[in-house]
Amino acid sequence: MSRELSELFDRNRQWAASTEARSPGFFTGLLSQQSPRYMWLGCADSRVPANELVDLLPGELFVHRNVANLLVHSDLNALSVIQYAVDVLGVQHIIVVGHSKCGGVRAALDNHRSGLVDNWLRHVQDVRDTHEAFLSGLPDELRIDALVELNVLEQSRNVCRTTIVRDAWQRGQSVAVHGWVYGLHDGLLRDMAITASAHEEVADAYDVALASLRQRWRQAVRQRASRTTSTEASGSTSPISSTVSSRAPSSL
Ligand code: CO
Repeated sequence: MSRELSELFDRNRQWAASTEARSPGFFTGLLSQQSPRYMWLGCADSRVPANELVDLLPGELFVHRNVANLLVHSDLNALSVIQYAVDVLGVQHIIVVGHSKCGGVRAALDNHRSGLVDNWLRHVQDVRDTHEAFLSGLPDELRIDALVELNVLEQSRNVCRTTIVRDAWQRGQSVAVHGWVYGLHDGLLRDMAITASAHEEVADAYDVALASLRQRWRQAVRQRASRTTSTEASGSTSPISSTVSSRAPSSL
């Protein structure tokens, strides 16, 4: 085995030993069953490790990840994970998690060709095209994170529209769908406030979240414009102010 890989086994042994030392019987306790309360549908990006950033242990989070955190209605892989999570494990929450500066979203936005994955990212381009009028009103550097958020809204609604979630709601099972965005720049999660826990709530949750998203980004554009104007007026060319002005709004 290469040194690189044997290092992973070394690290694994250390991790298992320290976990067991901290909590004796930890692994044997998980043998018989898992009963996670949460399901995470996130991006495959290596900078967004699901368990770690919500500080949950093995057994506490049921995870599915793919490029750009999509729920495509013909994707048997993702649907099977959701079905098992809802019908067998009885998770209470399904959380769609996008992240800022997502490479998949950026490629989709820019029509960047990477190969087979372009077909997968076509779904993100559909989201882009649906919201084209809004996105075209944003400056280039803000557009990617706005599309990340729009994609979270769309994928959250897609989860709500699966037969699995609809059937669960119909039989009175308690399961809520949420949409969050993780900030690569500060390690924090933001709630996109598209939570739905019944079929009747989905349309309103989507509309309200979308209106709030648009308002936030338009406000960010205005703040950015006024900062640029005041910077120009003071004659400052500080890279710090230009860095701050190109950031997503702090209220996100
Ligand atoms: Co990503």
